Amino acid sequence: MRWWDIPGVLALERELFPDDAWSEATYWSELALARGPGRRRHYLVAEAAGGTLAGYAGLGVAGGTGEVMTIGVTGGHQGAGLGGRLLGALLDAAAGPFACHEVMLEVRVDNERARRLYQRFGFARVGVRRGYYQPGNHDALVMRRALPPGGSRTPVHSEGTEGGAGEDG
Ligand SMILES: CC(C)(COP(=O)(O)OP(=O)(O)OC[C@H]1O[C@@H](n2cnc3c(N)ncnc32)[C@H](O)[C@@H]1OP(=O)(O)O)[C@@H](O)C(=O)NCCC(=O)NCCS
Repeated sequence: MRWWDIPGVLALERELFPDDAWSEATYWSELALARGPGRRRHYLVAEAAGGTLAGYAGLGVAGGTGEVMTIGVTGGHQGAGLGGRLLGALLDAAAGPFACHEVMLEVRVDNERARRLYQRFGFARVGVRRGYYQPGNHDALVMRRALPPGGSRTPVHSEGTEGGAGEDG
């Protein structure tokens, strides 16, 4: 994901997260952390044929722990494996260049599809954050996936991602 992707990502945000879409300013500051020698973010986009935005995902890293910051696939492209490819790409980045020993995430308890996706990729529930999502006061499950010690460039996800999601560092 680069700065010129932001308008398309914001449109997808409003589609997928109508109650708590991230702002343009948030994406600019997140992408600023994704550049340079001390970078601690990794954001990518997936484009459909013709270049329209089909999905996006982001990883944050602090102290050897990765965090799935966001992941989304537009309605017309859901259920075809793209979410899995995006999540796999985040895990590869966490295990490889960022040398994380674990990846964490939060997911709304009623988000069945996302929970199934995370479980398929080896995430296990480690806790609950009551009222984490506002408005609505929805609880979040906290999930964790351990990564091999020492980091690895070998794919660590459980589904094929050969060819991967589109990415521009
Ligand atoms: C969660 C989300 C990212 C998943 O994206 P996706 O592209 O639909 O994910 P996948 O296609 O990899 O997997 C979804 C389903 O499609 C199925 N699938 C994957 N590839 C498939 C294929 N080639 N053919 C048929 N089905 C397939 C998966 O088995 C999975 O089925 P399940 O939901 O019954 O377990 C997407 O639903 C989304 O953007 N949701 C709204 C935003 C959101 O909630 N984000 C997560 C916040 S924590």
